Amino acid sequence: MSPASDLLGHALAQADFHPRLPQQRRLYEAAKAAIHRQQLGAGSKLPSSRDLARDLRISRNTVIAAFEQLAAEGYVSSTLGSGTYVADLQAHSARMRGSGATPRVGHPPPRAGSRTGERPADLSRRGQELTSYAAGPRFEIQPFAGEADFSSFPFKLWQRLQNRVWREAPEALLDYGQSGGHLPLRQAITEYLRMSRSVKVEVEQVMITAGTQQSLDLCAQLLADAGDTAWIEDPCYWGARRAFQARELKLRPIAVDGDGMALDAADLATRPRLIYVTPSHQYPTGAVMSLARRRELLDVAVHKDAWILEDDYDSEFRYTGRPLAALQGLDHDDRVLYMGTFSKVIYPGIKVGYLVVPPALIDAFKSALYDLQRPGQLMVQAALADFIGLGHFTTHIRKIRQIYGARRELLRRTLEQRLDGQPVSISREESGLHLVLELPDDVDDVALEQRAADAGIQVKALSAYFLKPPVRRGLLVGYAYCTLEKIAECAPLLAAIIISGVDA
Ligand SMILES: Cc1ncc(COP(=O)(O)O)c(C=O)c1O
Repeated sequence: MSPASDLLGHALAQADFHPRLPQQRRLYEAAKAAIHRQQLGAGSKLPSSRDLARDLRISRNTVIAAFEQLAAEGYVSSTLGSGTYVADLQAHSARMRGSGATPRVGHPPPRAGSRTGERPADLSRRGQELTSYAAGPRFEIQPFAGEADFSSFPFKLWQRLQNRVWREAPEALLDYGQSGGHLPLRQAITEYLRMSRSVKVEVEQVMITAGTQQSLDLCAQLLADAGDTAWIEDPCYWGARRAFQARELKLRPIAVDGDGMALDAADLATRPRLIYVTPSHQYPTGAVMSLARRRELLDVAVHKDAWILEDDYDSEFRYTGRPLAALQGLDHDDRVLYMGTFSKVIYPGIKVGYLVVPPALIDAFKSALYDLQRPGQLMVQAALADFIGLGHFTTHIRKIRQIYGARRELLRRTLEQRLDGQPVSISREESGLHLVLELPDDVDDVALEQRAADAGIQVKALSAYFLKPPVRRGLLVGYAYCTLEKIAECAPLLAAIIISGVDA
């Protein structure tokens, strides 16, 4: 099967990929999305309609109709006898910009919803592209079974801290905040990052954002232009992928192995503007980037004049030993922007994160944060500063590390026992909030995800996180927000589902 067939087949296999549309429209949407993301690069030849129909096990007429629609809208061009080629959308946009015209791709695609009534009409081209793939929940690792359990959060204490802030309610905290966030919180984070993550940081470098998603968006807006290249890990965190796509960056997926992002000669021949990595605990595989790779990446960033975006999303959850030192701490050339979040340690909806920028970027980021986002939420930030300053943060981390560690242990032990002798490898690294179960290449992990969901168990197919055709199959199994009782009840069920999938 050609890589293009594999890629399109993978999209069509996703149960939630435009489930209500006919197959011809689904194929058209899959190809269009792949062209926008440059997974099907400009000038590349698509398989013939006959080959694609055979590979995808659909009728040739369906393929021909989808190709015709793509050709009519300028996404591909067909020459009789020579084949179907992907159009160069970037060149087209650049020409349009040069001519002062509004950039549109090819002939403008029909406005979303104009025929199907699926989405509100009159979205921009970008809006159509972004909403054609609204699959966030599909990639969000959930609590394994049942409702998410947040009972370990100290609600009463949090309420007291909030009440205290509100009793005093200094007027300055009711404003948007122009200085990159509430100073005591920035100070507390500075201390924390120096002590526990070996980040080289002064308080002026710390900006409080509405979580990592906003940090990524700010970086994409301020450091890259539409059409610039971003290297991302493959498989990759969905939120990062979306943030860069939304800013029209060209994504170059880079393979990941046991030592993290693994650049090859072809990658090194390209010129990234941004390099997004999760070095402490690669998301979702869990690989820890080796020291040699960290040094190599820092060198590459200097030589290519690129920015490294280090997403340190879950370092608090290391169940044995100390948290790993951040990549940022090794950076002597100010190429790394370091980001962290309170989503995992406090609760996801708090939407407070931090971004540490090199000194030369402080003013730009501070003013853009204010101009573009109007951050606010200083009252929450003040309560959080007290939570950290009074020592509750450290106590809370210690407590949830124990709780999550026990959940992890039970899940892993049960799965290991039940899957003994099966060709399944269960991640052994002692950190994070989910386990990775690697499966043989011929196992359909998307089908297993669905079978588990039918049984009330939430797992995610590893293959769905790849941008290129997936090279690994497996399941991501979250455990942090699931009670021991539920894990004890559902882990044997999951094992049975996996065994049936492996045997199929
Ligand atoms: C890799 C990674 N980064 C960041 C986040 C959290 O981002 P935010 O602070 O926007 O909630 C997540 C959440 O799932 C994640 O998996």
